[in-house]
Amino acid sequence: MKNTTFTLAFFTLFFACAPIKKETTDDIEKKIDSIISLMTIEEKIGQMTQIDQQFLDTIQDLSDYAIGSLLSGGGSNPDTNHFEGWADMYDKYQKVALKSRLGIPLIYGVDAVHGHNNVIGATIFPHNVGLGCANDYELCRKVSEATAVEVAATGINWNFSPCIAIPQDDRWGRHYEGYSEHVDIVSEMGAASIIGYQTTKLGSVNHSIVACAKHFIADGATIWGTGMGNQSDKIDRGNAPISDSLIRAKYLPPYQKALDAGVGTVMASFNSINDLKCHANGYLFNDLLKEEMGFDGFVISDWQGIDEIPGDYKSDIVKSVNAGLDMIMVPGAVKGGGEHYKTFLRLFKEAVDEGLILEERLDDAVRRILRIKFRSGVMDSPMTDRTLLEKVGSDEHKAIAREAVQKSLVLLKNDGILPLSSSKHYYVTGSGSDDIGKQCGGWTIKWQGKLGNITTGTSIIDGIEEYTTTNRNNENKKFDAAIVVVGEDPYTEMKGDTDQLYLSEKDKESIDEVKKMNIPYVVVLITGRPLIVNETIENSNAFLVAWLPGTEGGGVADILFGDKNLQGKLSFSWPKRIEDIPCNYDNICEPLFPLGFGLSYSND
Ligand code: GLC
Repeated sequence: MKNTTFTLAFFTLFFACAPIKKETTDDIEKKIDSIISLMTIEEKIGQMTQIDQQFLDTIQDLSDYAIGSLLSGGGSNPDTNHFEGWADMYDKYQKVALKSRLGIPLIYGVDAVHGHNNVIGATIFPHNVGLGCANDYELCRKVSEATAVEVAATGINWNFSPCIAIPQDDRWGRHYEGYSEHVDIVSEMGAASIIGYQTTKLGSVNHSIVACAKHFIADGATIWGTGMGNQSDKIDRGNAPISDSLIRAKYLPPYQKALDAGVGTVMASFNSINDLKCHANGYLFNDLLKEEMGFDGFVISDWQGIDEIPGDYKSDIVKSVNAGLDMIMVPGAVKGGGEHYKTFLRLFKEAVDEGLILEERLDDAVRRILRIKFRSGVMDSPMTDRTLLEKVGSDEHKAIAREAVQKSLVLLKNDGILPLSSSKHYYVTGSGSDDIGKQCGGWTIKWQGKLGNITTGTSIIDGIEEYTTTNRNNENKKFDAAIVVVGEDPYTEMKGDTDQLYLSEKDKESIDEVKKMNIPYVVVLITGRPLIVNETIENSNAFLVAWLPGTEGGGVADILFGDKNLQGKLSFSWPKRIEDIPCNYDNICEPLFPLGFGLSYSND
């Protein structure tokens, strides 16, 4: 029940001690103490609840249930899906949240995993698989900082990124969200990204947003055939049969680097470890992450992640909260599938009343959440800073994205045809030559991404035409050579699980068409992972891997025409055969190309 007098009085007290001097840790902890001392059980539970905005029954629920957080999952966009539309949506929700009895602001999360990728017109950067091949700390930091500016311009203050998975199996639909199969590359790029999002001190500038190291832990170590409840053709959310010593040697170091970088949040992983769901694993979160590693931020569940814990929903709540999850991404409603947030709130309260979850656990979780809210600056400045809007999609950001494309590309073969010449004429074809959606991949505008002109950007043929004319000009010239851009269509998470790591029939036809022209040809591959393309590589004059470059396709042409030299080196081993997968630097696999391979124009 809202008590205006109380709220005003509280705010007077609260902001009367607002910082004149820089807030110290003690100042923040004292403020948290006083807030917690005022909170009811229901308000503590509300603070630990995250809902997807698209599933709200009414906005007023934010205030009535003192909800702590909203998210926009992939595609959960405002009707006017541009930057101002997002800022209006965020401010609309925040205004209502501030009218709750204690007026604690929301923290609002999105998956801006390669730019503010839900928003039309945002700069879309290469996915992590490409950044891992660039393996350039400062570049990775710059990409994340530019992303943070575009996210903060919409009011959003929390990014479920970086994904610091270490993918071991190319058949995983989230392979491209990983930087590398190698722990050191993942550790460095993950830390760089966190500093890019947060700066070295969360909340120190107006574009500092809370980062989220995910998914804890060993999401990339699952076994084919154990995914999505042991489906034989799935690996995502599967089981990782690994020892504690392997977790500590291979999967934990990126999280230690993330904590050292000051990451504000960690997301629990859907997978199981030795058949125990991470979301219910108290050893991981209470003992390892919080006690042993000293993590003082908060842990968020994944999307309906607690629902996948064996047992009824109430026991899911009890197990996950007692395992150390501090905020639960509910997120949904009947139409969104999963449990309704009001069911969650009711069962959570029942569990506390029955002593199944102790109030001290709630206090610890709320303290962690409020600590990050204070550090992020949202407690003092809860509304969008619209001065940042002038920077979104800027030439500066596009230049960073183009540089990231240039540095992420990996050249696997070149008989001398590259670099191309602007004085020659090229026949450009293939499914990826003129498709922004394809070159962006998953997590773009929609959860699964989408082929076609889903947002603004420069396609690969657009980039090529900055250097020379092509067949798109319908010039019936004699072509000196061809460029065939082929590869994977967009996918995200389990939708991308497959053991069919081959070119499509359509792409093979494009290559055959060019072969019949009896001219040399370059293959450019758009992909989230290594594919089995041995013969295609063998028959081509050059083979360039572009990964998922994003909206600045001009960076591919910069490499093709030699304006820039190659820097990219494989951050994943490239297998010869499906049967060899998982094929990594640290197992007994003889790859077609090893981790670290990549040609350049200086050492062909
Ligand atoms: C998804 C993903 C996670 C993402 C979350 C919110 O299922 O597993 O990476 O941050 O839900 O969209």
